[in-house]
Formats: sequence, C-alpha cells, structure tokens
Amino acid sequence: MGFATNAIHVGQEPDPTTGAIVAPIYQTSTYVQTELGKDKGYDYARTNHPNRKALERTVAKLEGGQSAYVFSSGMAAIDAVFRLLRPGDHAVISEAVYGGVFRLATQLLVHFGLEFTFVDTSSQDSVLGALRPNTKMLYVETPTNPTLRVADLAALGKLATDRSITLVVDNTFLSPYLQRPIELGAHIVVHSMTKYLNGHSDSTGGAAVLTRPEDAEKIYFIQRSAGSGLAPMDCFLVSRGLKTLAIRMLQHNANGIAVARHLDAHPKIRKVYYPGLPTHPQHDIARKQQRGPGAMLAFDLGSLDAARRFLNQVKLCSLAESLGGVETLISLPALMTHASMPVEVRERVGITEGLVRLSVGIEDIEDIIADLDQALLYV
Ligand SMILES: Cc1ncc(COP(=O)(O)O)c(C=O)c1O
Repeated sequence: MGFATNAIHVGQEPDPTTGAIVAPIYQTSTYVQTELGKDKGYDYARTNHPNRKALERTVAKLEGGQSAYVFSSGMAAIDAVFRLLRPGDHAVISEAVYGGVFRLATQLLVHFGLEFTFVDTSSQDSVLGALRPNTKMLYVETPTNPTLRVADLAALGKLATDRSITLVVDNTFLSPYLQRPIELGAHIVVHSMTKYLNGHSDSTGGAAVLTRPEDAEKIYFIQRSAGSGLAPMDCFLVSRGLKTLAIRMLQHNANGIAVARHLDAHPKIRKVYYPGLPTHPQHDIARKQQRGPGAMLAFDLGSLDAARRFLNQVKLCSLAESLGGVETLISLPALMTHASMPVEVRERVGITEGLVRLSVGIEDIEDIIADLDQALLYV
C-alpha cells in the first residue's frame, strides 16, 4: 500500500467490539485480569495500552522500521535512545543540533559517564576525524535545527555500519513523507511527534523507530521501566494527525518553497537557509535524499534589534516555540529554542541573534507572504 493509505489504515483497524471506525481512547490506568496471571493483553497503562500500540504500529510502518516506541515527548524518546549507551561509550552528534539535545548530552548524560563530540555532520571528514575507538553512536539531525545543514545519510549509513556504530537520525524536520532515513542506512530514527507527525500543535510526543530486535527490546524495557510512554489521549491525537500527514506535507512543502523563494529575493534579507534553494551548500544531497525541501527555513535579519522589530510586527505568523503545526510559527532560536547553547557554539554554527526561524504552515500562501512583507517594513 502507498504512504497515505498506510497512514490512514495501519494500526487503525475498526474497534472489534463495536465496529467504531475510530478506536476508543482507553483512558484507564489498569486492566482487570480474568483470573490470576491471565489478562487480555494489557495489565497496566505505564507498560502498554491499546492507543499506544496502535500508534507505534503506524509510526513503524511509515518510517519503514521493524518496530517503534512512542514517548511523552521527543526528548523522552531521544533520552531513551542515548540510554542504549554504556558508561565509557562515546557518541558523535551534529553540532547544529536542537538545543534540548545539546543540553541533555552536555548537562545530564555526561554525568553518567558518556562522552560526546559535536561536529558538522554535513562533512564526512569532520565525522571521521571525531571517531574514537569507543565511539558507539552517530547522532545526526538532517536538516539541522535551525540552520538547515544537510548530512549525506547514505554515506554516513555506510561509514557507521562499516565500523559497527549505530546511526541515529532525527527526522523531525521532514517527516517520513519527505525523508526515509532507514532506507538510506539509519539504524534508528527519532522524532519529536509534537511537530509534523501530530501536526496540529495540540500534544507533545516522541518516537524511536528501530530496525534491530535487540535495540527494540532495550527501548521497550526503558519505556516501561522509566514510565516515559505516551498517554492514551495524546496517542489518540497523534494517530488522528497522522491520517493527514501526506496531504499536509505536500502543502507544507509547496508553501515552504514559495516563502523561501520570496524571502531570498527580498532586499532586506541577508541570507536564507533552505535546502531547496540552489545556493544551499548541500542542495544536491537534499535533492537526492529528500522528496522535497520541506517547510522549515531560517533567515538572517542582521541584528537582534532588526529581528525584534520584525517579530513584534507579525500578525498571522505566531511567535512561538515549536514547529510543524498547520499554523505558521516563527521564532528566534538564539533566545528561544537554542538559548541553552553556549554563545560560542551558537556563533560557530551560525545561530546569530538576527537569525529568525520559520515553520511555514498550510494557510493560504498569499496570506503568509503578505504578513511577512508587512512585518519586514519595520526592519
Ligand atoms: C529537531 C528536534 N528534535 C527533537 C525535539 C524535541 O522534541 P520535544 O519538544 O517533543 O521534546 C525538537 C523540539 O523542538 C526538535 O526540533
């Protein structure tokens, strides 16, 4: 079956007891045993519940994984994946990674004996140069948040597999509709489902998609032991959102291209970061491995003052953290999503105080552009 069909039907069979086309929300903490030691497949909602199981089946199918586990947030999923490592292990991470991942690694996981090196994963030489004998994981965001650097997944997949290193790819920015990292060689895919997978900005959620049974067993153990699995209502919301993922991504992508081209031609904008522009340094790799450039972009207004004036004037675009919702969201990474990154790291990866990030929604394109244009008059 095709992607859109799978998104609508896999894990979403009609309820066997009533025929309801949408399965009920199993808002219950425990499940009654028919006799001692015998249950109907569920015993306690921390361990598992039908809404979680359904969503996990859909996500695994869409990413082409063998299994998936869903968590209370993207960070909970990412934390679970890093817990596959043991004290003394080393991981190489994209330097322009989501700020929360940087904070998790440098302020929390280091205290448990893990070692991290942050490099530009769009350069294979930088990745090779960072490898150590104890490197066990390569954690890649592509495109990166917010500077949209693209890593060559097929090349990194080979590099990792040849050295028995686990390649983890954060596919949040594109969703499996626009990029399928497992087909390119990733061993694990992670998501903030808070973003495109749910798509309606009304729940948080995360996913870890696995290709190897040994990883799946460990991740499920972590999920049920740490109690970080996604709750029934949130699973229901993400499952509902997923049904329109294909059609939403088509429109996000079309709107993203239109906004990027418009801003790129605008005299007040110094630089637009978007893999769909021929001037993007990894444009060719993006064309090769992505079904489209997506709807995430960033642009530099030159200074914090200019960015502030612009952000205080937008009306349709909502000034908010997060991305991937149907509504256009706009933010200033240096003061918002990436505030936890030290200034010198931010500067090295290009997150200046004038850098604005845009998550282009699926409103009418003329309205989005008109809003950006009127706010740019204040810059
Ligand atoms: C690329 C990326 N990965 C992971 C996360 C973390 O996800 P969550 O906020 O659902 O914990 C985010 C959050 O913005 C993100 O942008």
